[in-house]
Amino acid sequence: MVGMTEINVREFRDYAAGLAQQAASLILTKRAEITATDDIRSHSQTKTSAVDPVTEVDTAAEAFIVDSIHRDRPDDGIIGEEGADIPSKSGVSWVIDPIDGTVNFMYGLGEYAVSIGAMVDGQYVAGVVINVVKQTLYSAAVGHGATVTYRDGTSTILRCRQETDPQLSLIATGFGYTQTRRSGQAKILQEVLPQVRDIRRMGSAALDMCRVAEGTVDAYYEHGVKIWDVAAGIVIAREAGAQVRVPEVWEKNSARGTLVWAASAELAPAFERLLSSVGANGEID
Ligand code: IPD
Repeated sequence: MVGMTEINVREFRDYAAGLAQQAASLILTKRAEITATDDIRSHSQTKTSAVDPVTEVDTAAEAFIVDSIHRDRPDDGIIGEEGADIPSKSGVSWVIDPIDGTVNFMYGLGEYAVSIGAMVDGQYVAGVVINVVKQTLYSAAVGHGATVTYRDGTSTILRCRQETDPQLSLIATGFGYTQTRRSGQAKILQEVLPQVRDIRRMGSAALDMCRVAEGTVDAYYEHGVKIWDVAAGIVIAREAGAQVRVPEVWEKNSARGTLVWAASAELAPAFERLLSSVGANGEID
């Protein structure tokens, strides 16, 4: 196992950035090939419910990322949304969502991303999320800040907005894929909505975390996201000044509806009180 002092987390970030950019190109190329003659929905299957899709592009993008890591870093572990599950011999693990926002991808909505996080001995140390359509690359390494790099090559350091009042806060959230989970989420949303500026449901948890980091929303919460949805976003949001709550132990395929949230450090105490007052702290089935 590697100690945190012996590793260069910036190397992990930069390696993940290269992979994410290549995967994003692959996704755009394959999507264009399919949509030239077909509806992309006929190239998909369902997972946990009839509305939880995986397309052949998700599978191809994950295979590309997994094969690359396996070739370049054979002792590292890999956890991927579409099935990759390789134990780590080095202490380093990569957590991959090849397309976060698959429903947007299928419908041609531009909010979907490749997300690659690096963990060392269970700690989130580096993360990269790329908005595939805009080619906006969010990246961070623990202790080294978070940055966004735009398509034209310009970069900006990410900082959360410093709102302190939930009533004036724009909140991103998301919903799971089962009817039971959605019913529980709707009940909580009904309580939250009157107490905040407004709600956004954009369809990619990875990008929602990046939006907290860049200040285009003030906070994000959701029950039941998986580790691959937010592993990279956790580092990006924290390095931009957010407080992030995630489960202490995150079993890979757990169906538990545990709460995850991120908010600027200034907003976090009041946001946590709000979530707690509407009963959002517990799990949703
Ligand atoms: C989904 C998205 C969505 C969130 C869901 C996730 P997927 O990931 O991140 O925003 O609300 O909980 O499952 O299925 O598009 O990879």
